[in-house]
Amino acid sequence: MSEIAYLNGEFLPLDKAHVSVLDRGFIFGDGVYEVIPVYSRRPFRLPEHLRRLQHSLDAIRLANPMTDAEWTRLIHDLVGRHAGEDQSIYLQVTRGVARRDHAFPVEARQTVFMMSSPLATPARELIDNGVACITATDYRWLKCDVKSVSLVGNCLLRQSAAEAGAAEVVLFRDGYLTEASASNVFAVRNGKLLAPPKNHLILPGITYDVVLELAAACAIPIELREIPEQEVRSADELWVTSSTKEVLAVVTLDGRPIATGKPGPVFRRVHQAFQEFKRKVMRQAA
Ligand code: PDD
Repeated sequence: MSEIAYLNGEFLPLDKAHVSVLDRGFIFGDGVYEVIPVYSRRPFRLPEHLRRLQHSLDAIRLANPMTDAEWTRLIHDLVGRHAGEDQSIYLQVTRGVARRDHAFPVEARQTVFMMSSPLATPARELIDNGVACITATDYRWLKCDVKSVSLVGNCLLRQSAAEAGAAEVVLFRDGYLTEASASNVFAVRNGKLLAPPKNHLILPGITYDVVLELAAACAIPIELREIPEQEVRSADELWVTSSTKEVLAVVTLDGRPIATGKPGPVFRRVHQAFQEFKRKVMRQAA
């Protein structure tokens, strides 16, 4: 039996959920999305995800089809219809169905779609040994703070990583670190945690915020600033973060080791703090 999805006001089996070929999400990639992890049946940082959704909708000038209370109710409903304790909720809002014309349709209703998948957190081996990454020029558009479904740039970049047997591709724009194809990136130098500031060049990651909060709680000095490529390549530690990867150490970049080529001590502290924080959230859910 197919799992249950949500489409435009109704819950239905995922394989029965269909949208028109004229949907602007299909024709133009004209829509936005969120990926929300669920731990022990509790959506993680839901208000923050809904705030970022509102930011993305505002950026593409699309009205939010629901209030936060309605989103929250529907997301809990969807979680309740799935057996897994840990889930990954994908939600997407597009500008709806209209005759093909680049300019916005006058009368179209947003398409709202949600589905749940089992949340696959990183395998122990990846946490213990770290991951390989490659690098590339960040050739995406200048609104990377918008979680847009127009992801062909990210897909091309991620495919280059997959073909190189790497977990991610770390991106540089004009010689400075931005992020990775589907993750934020942090560096550690001389005991200090460095991250590019939130601006139009990176997605404001929910995990990025969690990692900064946990680092502050661990009394790790933090510096949010532009990071030149050379400082990334010669970093003591390099990490990637996302809702599905949580926090992972990058141990090689373009085949060359980052420092010792092993996950570093600052990573281990923050990773442990992340796991404890998750357990606390789970206990609250119980
Ligand atoms: N991607 N940067 C980009 C380009 C991303 O696509 C993502 C997440 C992140 C990390 O954001 P967060 O911590 O909120 O997950 C940064 C999701 C997981 C995806 O597209 O599947």
